[in-house]
Amino acid sequence: MAIKFYKDKKIFHLYNKNISYVFSVNEMNILLHHYYGKRIKDVYSLLNKKEEINFQFYKDNEFKNDVKYYDNLTEVEVGSYLRLDLKPASFKIKCKYNSLTDFRYVSHSYKNHNEYEDYYPHLRNLSNADEVTIKLKDAYRNIYLYITYRIFNDVDVISKSVRIENKTRNDIYVNKAMSFTLDMPFTNQNLIHFPGTWAFERRYIKEKLNYGNKVLYSLEGRSSHYENPFFIICNADADEYHGEAYSFNIIYSGNFKNEIYVSSLNKIRINVGINDESLEYKLKRGDDLILPEVISSYSFKGINNLSINNHNLIKNHILLENKKFPLLYNSWEGMGMDFNDESIKKLINISKEMGIGLFVLDDGWFSTRNDDKHGLGDWWINKDKIDLKEISELTHKNGLKFGIWIEPECVNIDTKLYKEHEDYIISSKQLEKRFSRNQLVLDFSCLDVVNHVFDSIYNSLKDVKIDYIKYDMNRYLGDICSSFTPQGEIFYKYTLGVYKFMYKLKQNFKDLIFENCCSGGGRFDLGMLYFSPLIWTSDNTNPIDRTFIQYGTSFAYPLTSISAHVSKADGTYSSKADVAFFGSFGYELDLKTLKDEDKKLLKEYNELYKKYHYEVINNGTLYRINNPFVDSYSIMMSYSKEIDVGFILISLIKDIDQNINIKFEMELDKPYYLINGKLYKREHLKNSGLIIDDIKKIGETKLIKIEGREKYEED
Ligand code: DGJ
Repeated sequence: MAIKFYKDKKIFHLYNKNISYVFSVNEMNILLHHYYGKRIKDVYSLLNKKEEINFQFYKDNEFKNDVKYYDNLTEVEVGSYLRLDLKPASFKIKCKYNSLTDFRYVSHSYKNHNEYEDYYPHLRNLSNADEVTIKLKDAYRNIYLYITYRIFNDVDVISKSVRIENKTRNDIYVNKAMSFTLDMPFTNQNLIHFPGTWAFERRYIKEKLNYGNKVLYSLEGRSSHYENPFFIICNADADEYHGEAYSFNIIYSGNFKNEIYVSSLNKIRINVGINDESLEYKLKRGDDLILPEVISSYSFKGINNLSINNHNLIKNHILLENKKFPLLYNSWEGMGMDFNDESIKKLINISKEMGIGLFVLDDGWFSTRNDDKHGLGDWWINKDKIDLKEISELTHKNGLKFGIWIEPECVNIDTKLYKEHEDYIISSKQLEKRFSRNQLVLDFSCLDVVNHVFDSIYNSLKDVKIDYIKYDMNRYLGDICSSFTPQGEIFYKYTLGVYKFMYKLKQNFKDLIFENCCSGGGRFDLGMLYFSPLIWTSDNTNPIDRTFIQYGTSFAYPLTSISAHVSKADGTYSSKADVAFFGSFGYELDLKTLKDEDKKLLKEYNELYKKYHYEVINNGTLYRINNPFVDSYSIMMSYSKEIDVGFILISLIKDIDQNINIKFEMELDKPYYLINGKLYKREHLKNSGLIIDDIKKIGETKLIKIEGREKYEED
């Protein structure tokens, strides 16, 4: 891995053993983009491309072809605004006289000039990365850009981060600022993205790219259920194990925007950044603004490999740590807010009997919170209902850890918090209040509000031993007005406020296991994973629906982050447990309702969890074998090369009348594999496949163990 600068032609080559990314500085100091793809050696030949010239200079009484300037055919690293680039701009920055932006190279250095504060999610553990920062200046104004490019040697990923600095004498206003711009030729590629809704997040959608601007975005102050920030551009013939594919994802949890623009001149421009809708971020003279980092991965071995890159990037460079979690029980699906000391004590007893290691009390433990119309925002413990300290002590005495639910960003109007601080909400006195889940959003764009809510939660919980927090957020932002923050800055500063809150939580509750939740999976993004290794994937725990949801989620995010609980939803316990096993496994039902035979069955899963889950699911490699959005079933395998054990999950989402034939298209290391007591040759699994003939009905599932073997020897 390295970054090489060819001085004579001012070419930058970022490469590792699999990928190359090449750009150069031209005579006009414009950053030209040349290549992003499979590793190449000869970068000079990239410059031989004949430029088509559409513009002229008028000089010395004659027109001369403008070879130096760029037009809408030229591939660049930073798209200008209101010049001749004609594609969606990378930056729009308004100042006194104009908004035209045109950034030109000034210098570069191999140091990082874009330092993120600890609370601002960014890539960690950078000893595996090389970086170069390019300093650019606007052609007409003293506005500077610093773009830090990184290449990694442990994953096939390029990252970019951008900082804008105002060195003019005036205030400037940032109206658009994309962290990653990529130009490439249009060759009829496909776009794969993951739109959804509450309880059906991250559906897999594959569509042919066509002329025009396709914009994927969120506008609700969260990365959202409606569209995940992650997307893929792949060649039309690419599949899971063949062909070229690129992915993009932003390390951010607020409004994002992904532009995929295809020009009629057969060029694609991809812009990834924060959403510029309503953005007007003021920078005073001397101020700067650092934008969220964006990662991009490239694979020439199909889409599954792209997912492996993204999973490894997250495990190695986003998560604080990838540790073994105790087996979790959460009270929500089983109890709702209808519990008391006595019923919770019973649940703790059964949890212990079942071998559960972490007991989580969800919503309903504070103030007047007995339904979702009351109490949110007043964080004093409702001791008449539940003595948290005693419950936590009892849990620990039984050898379990104890966790609690919070939702800091929202408020019900019957609370002391709302009555005393009406100005703390996002909205304005002039606007009729709009509720969603009967609640309003607190103005986390203001640090005083963040601190106030933090202190009230902290003071309430500081004497209770808490090992885990489930951080929830149950409505979108709307009526975007603030008593503290200009409208054009609210969304961005709100997101930073959320991060500041989470950072404080981590600082003040030591060794905390953190789980993120947002009405299920409304914030399944890299910003959240920076704080919480677990994300509650969806409020929908039906195993058939979950098969789709977890499948879609797996493209960008590792199984270890995909919280999946056995609940009271429809389906047998074995099918619910099979599907949940392919995520961060746990329980979320009224354990008192389990019959003895259910307990017996689930205890077997708990044993399996303890024996294999960490190695095979958390640290294993995921292989998607087919697509439930196309076929009648989903098949996935997660395999640990360390212990040479894997699991295959099959779940039927329709009735079938034929047998299932699993073809192993992925690269298999071992010559033999032991499956259900039978030894198969690798070639057999690849060519003839593994036949499954005993499941045929919708909802049926199967979890199959597979073990690699060097020699032909049966157990
Ligand atoms: C929404 C979450 O998605 C649920 O898991 C649960 O925590 C409720 N909120 C509690 O109000």
